[in-house]
Amino acid sequence: MSKKITLITGASSGIGLELAWVCARNNHDLLLIARHEDKLQELTKAIKEKYSVSVDYLPYDLSEIKSAQEIYNHCQAKDLFIDVLINNAGFGDWRKFIDSDIKRQLDMINVNISTLVYLSHLFIKDMKNNGGGKIMNIASAAAFQPGPLMSVYYATKAFVLHFSEAIANELKENNITVTAICPGPTASNFKKNANIGNSRLMKKRNLPSSKNVAEFSYRAMKKGKVVAIHGLINIIMTKLVNIIPRSIVVKMVRKIQEEF
Ligand SMILES: NC(=O)c1ccc[n+]([C@@H]2O[C@H](COP(=O)([O-])OP(=O)(O)OC[C@H]3O[C@@H](n4cnc5c(N)ncnc54)[C@H](OP(=O)(O)O)[C@@H]3O)[C@@H](O)[C@H]2O)c1
Repeated sequence: MSKKITLITGASSGIGLELAWVCARNNHDLLLIARHEDKLQELTKAIKEKYSVSVDYLPYDLSEIKSAQEIYNHCQAKDLFIDVLINNAGFGDWRKFIDSDIKRQLDMINVNISTLVYLSHLFIKDMKNNGGGKIMNIASAAAFQPGPLMSVYYATKAFVLHFSEAIANELKENNITVTAICPGPTASNFKKNANIGNSRLMKKRNLPSSKNVAEFSYRAMKKGKVVAIHGLINIIMTKLVNIIPRSIVVKMVRKIQEEF
């Protein structure tokens, strides 16, 4: 009998790191993925010291398309059954599209979309053959509207949301739940990595912690919710964008993305 494992991408920092802790506390054996091996190693050690779960890690750059197949091959070779797949790795880039580095935009599409799709495709087949499983995809409140100054990022998250909802519907009969998590601005390394300066959106108030978002996400996944939007303001905003004319929504988002 294969060993049941929860795979978390982007576990070296922020929401993914906190998801690793929440899952460990709930007795999940873990396989952690990200680029920074030192951080994964440190986290693995810390979790093992606190909880009686098995934790392993694989350093991978998920912008490389071949990474998904290699991760899958590793699981096959070790006889691991990924019954929970958490596609959390992702990043943004703050600037006008015309001024952006196209390689970085394409890497973003690979991490936020292509590898998420690839891993899902590989592991869903095993979940189906093993009687079920759970997938959590970290989308964003950004998924609900276009985002000037982070155009590619917002579009990747719209993809993740729509893709998740669609396969959640398809997989119902296979006892596989798919949950799209939509956090708003959250305290993590995201802002620094996306080169977001003093945008109105990210500079605001006390941002929710990654731990808070991770706990919310775990509960939503356990309940099998299809879409889970974190925070009342984000819930209200995602409803409002459906009734405000789209041309106005785009202008509003531009305004909150600008520096002040
Ligand atoms: N923070 C927010 O405001 C916010 C809001 C909504 C949604 N989200 C989403 O939440 C998810 C987690 O982000 P976060 O806020 O926790 O940011 P974070 O602290 O920057 O963490 C991002 C994680 O993704 C991993 N990652 C990035 N590029 C990678 C690559 N090429 N290959 C492998 N791993 C990679 C990073 O690991 P390495 O650097 O070690 O590779 C890190 O573990 C993302 O999908 C993000 O879009 C964030």
